[in-house]
Amino acid sequence: MGGGAVPRSSKIPALPPPPLPVAEPAIAEIERLSFAYDRRPVLHDIDLRIPRGKVVAIMGQSGCGKTTLLRILMAALLPGEGRARVLGVDTAALDRDGLYALRRRMGMLFQFGALFTDMTVFDNVAFQMREHTDLPEDVIRDLVLLKLEAVGLRGAAPLMPGELSGGMARRVALARAVALDPELILYDEPFTGLDPIALGAIARLVRQLNDALGATSVIVTHDVAETLPLVDYVYFMADGRVLAQGAPADVRRTGVEFVEQFVTGAKDGPVPFHYPAAGYEADLGLAAGA
Ligand SMILES: Nc1ncnc2c1ncn2[C@@H]1O[C@H](COP(=O)(O)OP(=O)(O)OP(=O)(O)O)[C@@H](O)[C@H]1O
Ligand SMILES: [Mg+2]
Repeated sequence: MGGGAVPRSSKIPALPPPPLPVAEPAIAEIERLSFAYDRRPVLHDIDLRIPRGKVVAIMGQSGCGKTTLLRILMAALLPGEGRARVLGVDTAALDRDGLYALRRRMGMLFQFGALFTDMTVFDNVAFQMREHTDLPEDVIRDLVLLKLEAVGLRGAAPLMPGELSGGMARRVALARAVALDPELILYDEPFTGLDPIALGAIARLVRQLNDALGATSVIVTHDVAETLPLVDYVYFMADGRVLAQGAPADVRRTGVEFVEQFVTGAKDGPVPFHYPAAGYEADLGLAAGA
């Protein structure tokens, strides 16, 4: 069987053209995703590709749906419509064990994610290793010190979180996020509250850890100026939609007014400074005739 030439006949339907070769395989892919909390729509018709090995930024104003999108990627939320494939699995098809196995391959640094305050730095980083693996303590010790060394804080292993500066605490959180050598690392606003020097250090660490671990990273942030130079690809979101995307050099000149306002940090532009509210005077009880 097999190998014989297929006779050319008008009765044999033409084969579809072969798929185009994909230059960079995606480690996570979202297709035509829409999502609502209860009945409140938050994400609309989103297409997103996270190529393996890259650092991808998701940017956009507060409330546009960035954290929600990360929750979809970590399979904490399921698409209302559309599909999310992460590390080769369709998140809607996961059972409990599947979800556990998927999470084991991911590292996460949550928005406002704090360290466990009643444990040392060492135990914070060791926590997931003890939870998720059967590694003996002496191996865990070496791995924890390796991760802490990677963020420059091996010497801080015995300290309690209360003894750390904000920048140091963030670096420990980074070490904790990569404790299990994740294939995909999700960062939600990892720079919040840091001074520019600490911010630059954390941003470089995100890049270094990604490349050293051979991982793929998604970073949600609104620190555009600091982040753009470090990432390979950017998605700009507004009101739950992807508004622009591309390599950093390209998104700087999209011509989309919103993106330019974001990149230049101008206060006035399509993004209003004020959250919609009733008239200020009315709120203060100063409305005419009041
Ligand atoms: N658990 C929830 N239940 C209902 N609505 C929610 C929930 N979480 C978020 N929202 C709403 O969904 C929208 C998107 O929220 P999300 O947290 O994804 O925004 P964001 O882009 O991460 O904002 P920020 O930059 O301020 O963190 C917001 O309008 C928010 O009020
Ligand atoms: Mg958020």
